[in-house]
Amino acid sequence: MQVYEGLAGIPVVKSSISYVDGENGILEYRGIPIQELVENSNFLELSYLLIFGKIPDENELLKFELDIKENLKYFERILDIVKSLPENLHPMKILQSLVPVFAFDDIDTDIMKEENKYRQTVRIMALVPVVIAFSKRLKEGKEIVFPDKNFYYTENFLYMLNGKSVEKIYWQTLDKTLILHAEHTINASTFTAMVVVSTLADLYACVSSAIGSLSGRLHGGANEEVYKMLSSLPNDEKIIREYIENKLKNKDKIMGFGHRIYKTYDPRAKIMKYLLENLQKEKPTPLLKKAEIFEKIALEYLEEKKIYTNIDFYSGVLYSQMGIPSDFFTTIFAMARVPGWIAHCIEYVRNNKLFRPTQVYDGGHNIHYKDIKSL
Ligand code: ACO
Repeated sequence: MQVYEGLAGIPVVKSSISYVDGENGILEYRGIPIQELVENSNFLELSYLLIFGKIPDENELLKFELDIKENLKYFERILDIVKSLPENLHPMKILQSLVPVFAFDDIDTDIMKEENKYRQTVRIMALVPVVIAFSKRLKEGKEIVFPDKNFYYTENFLYMLNGKSVEKIYWQTLDKTLILHAEHTINASTFTAMVVVSTLADLYACVSSAIGSLSGRLHGGANEEVYKMLSSLPNDEKIIREYIENKLKNKDKIMGFGHRIYKTYDPRAKIMKYLLENLQKEKPTPLLKKAEIFEKIALEYLEEKKIYTNIDFYSGVLYSQMGIPSDFFTTIFAMARVPGWIAHCIEYVRNNKLFRPTQVYDGGHNIHYKDIKSL
């Protein structure tokens, strides 16, 4: 029996949610190119498209938005729980711990019931941004800002996070980055969510597990690592080149580069960089220049192995420009990926088959127990 390491190239599901052509750098959600969605859609409409398979009409979108806003009423309960957690807990751990608690007094969470899927979806979408914003305010010792239902989703998030309303360019840019991050076929965290839903666990359990999976630095956690790496380096080509050469010599991975599927420039990274340059006109950051120098040098070494810049390279620089602290970057990725995870869980459970892979056993047999005292 052959072992398929990392399940690379092994299809585990038939899905119509998104499509990636890694050779040509194409990404589509429900058949629509990512570029068109970033330009014309917004995160809530896009979430509806991913989860329900169609672009909503005005009434459907309004209802979806109102149902999400209705769940903001739980914010005081969220605040009490976040306050009770250890002060220095990483924001991804806080988020992962909180999502199962969103069930609150749900007696029936059976994932096979349509009404439960919907209730869990809108509640998770409503409360994930609340947890992130409250955790950040508490960590900084600042006053908590409660959600304001008059604001659009991303606008409200940045309002709670920063303690004041922000200019449109900021929340619209953030909204577009959420579209970029919302879905990406069967990546590690989505697969985690699918494994959990295949046991018929509810969406709270699926999303919480997916957040844990996303937190690792080979996946969503890379954006925080890229930021740390860029911040630790001076704006000096020679030193940056030495850093990259050392990393490669030691066979270390350079964060923000490489992808299991893309063997060309990640189309999301291109758009992320464009959004960043656009924001730069409002508020310049020296980090962008450094990132560009780093990228140019890194690609001199990596391109021949078909290793290119991925989405996480520029996202941290962009989030830092919005005043988001680096240890919160991956929580923004998680907030964005919620509709992708949920869409896959709902699709998978329709023709559910419990995930239960097998192994090639390479241990011994008939080895007899030895009492610890005899060793
Ligand atoms: N820096 C240096 N070398 C790399 C990198 C990198 N970022 N990525 C791959 N390689 C090299 C490996 O060293 C290996 O070289 P070898 O054949 O000489 O031993 C070869 O490319 C294949 O590497 P694998 O790790 O087997 O490739 P895989 O497809 O498993 O890697 C991954 C994908 C995990 C994303 C990898 O590129 C990586 O670790 N990148 C850095 C972390 C990162 O940015 N993660 C975010 C990914 S995007 C996302 O999750 C949203």
